[in-house]
Amino acid sequence: MSALWIYYPREYIRSYLASVPETVSLGNKASLAGVNVGAAVRDMNQLNDSRYLQLYNSVTPENALKLGRVMTDLDTQTYDFEEADALVNHALAMGLNVRGHALVFGKASDMFKSPDLDAWLEQYPETQRSAMLTQLMRQHISVMLQHYRGRIHTWDVVNEVLDLFGNGNIEKNVFQRYVGEDYIEIALRTAKEADETIKIVLNEQLNNYTDNRAEAFFELIKSLVERGVPLDGVGLQAHNLYSLTPPHTLKAYMKRFAALGLSVEITELEARLKLFSNFDDPYLAQGKFYRDITQQCLDVKACLGVTFWGYSDETSWMNELPYLFPVPNEPYLLDINRKVKPAVSLIESLFDSNR
Ligand code: XIL
Repeated sequence: MSALWIYYPREYIRSYLASVPETVSLGNKASLAGVNVGAAVRDMNQLNDSRYLQLYNSVTPENALKLGRVMTDLDTQTYDFEEADALVNHALAMGLNVRGHALVFGKASDMFKSPDLDAWLEQYPETQRSAMLTQLMRQHISVMLQHYRGRIHTWDVVNEVLDLFGNGNIEKNVFQRYVGEDYIEIALRTAKEADETIKIVLNEQLNNYTDNRAEAFFELIKSLVERGVPLDGVGLQAHNLYSLTPPHTLKAYMKRFAALGLSVEITELEARLKLFSNFDDPYLAQGKFYRDITQQCLDVKACLGVTFWGYSDETSWMNELPYLFPVPNEPYLLDINRKVKPAVSLIESLFDSNR
């Protein structure tokens, strides 16, 4: 019975449709305040939407800059930048800040098989694999940073280094297995060598900001900083996968990174609608949650901004993994018909009073 309940698609009343604002100016207000408010976009259609600049002043290509998209042949290390360049150049022409995501991302290979690095390495003698993957990783970082020099100034150089659950062990992803735990440090140093002007970010998904895992992540970052490994900032993804993180815990956590001299940024914010089922108006509750999270960022000087991991509820990576994330996910600022959801004016109001 309970399994059926989980998969049973539920719909909630969209009270907000009675008063959808004609135009909004969150993007402008964020620019005036000097913070980024952005979305991950998967294609040109989303970027070209007439609402984009009303909502945002920043963008993160959701997949277009990932290894599996830009590299067309692992053996010859051949690249095709057509799609990524079109998106990045258009975003820049729109006046948006572009976040680079992501240069070294083990799960892209392990979970999403994009590209399947294990399968690639297994074609070669075992003794060569470590050197091959190290070379590929270093080469990829250099190629990307050279190609986007002067266009993308902030990069998630390493993405998701910890086990998703548990006590914060380094994930035994393809890079850890073949290159060793040092892959993190090697990647960060390589990025600095390739372009000393970029902001180097280590981006991580934390399920809350108070458990052992969050502590282990802080200790990892602290040790990188203390050892002089190049690092400018920490990205906190902030997907609320199975529970809501109390917003106030985020501020205290961000301040600890700020004290290390790092910037912080909320890079992939999402709170699934299903997590607000108990509220009378889940859409409104979701909006208030986003407002409260954004408030945490505005309260911390080192916090550069907030990015939502998608543009409108028409499409979501979570909907593509229904066994992990039963609908309704509807996590974004625009609904399935690209109507403005309650979060937008709630977040906007922060800028009216805050900065
Ligand atoms: C996801 C994309 O949204 C999907 O379209 C793709 O199939 C897999 O990757 N954490 C990250 C992102 O850092 O890169 C992931 O993006 C979502 C989780």
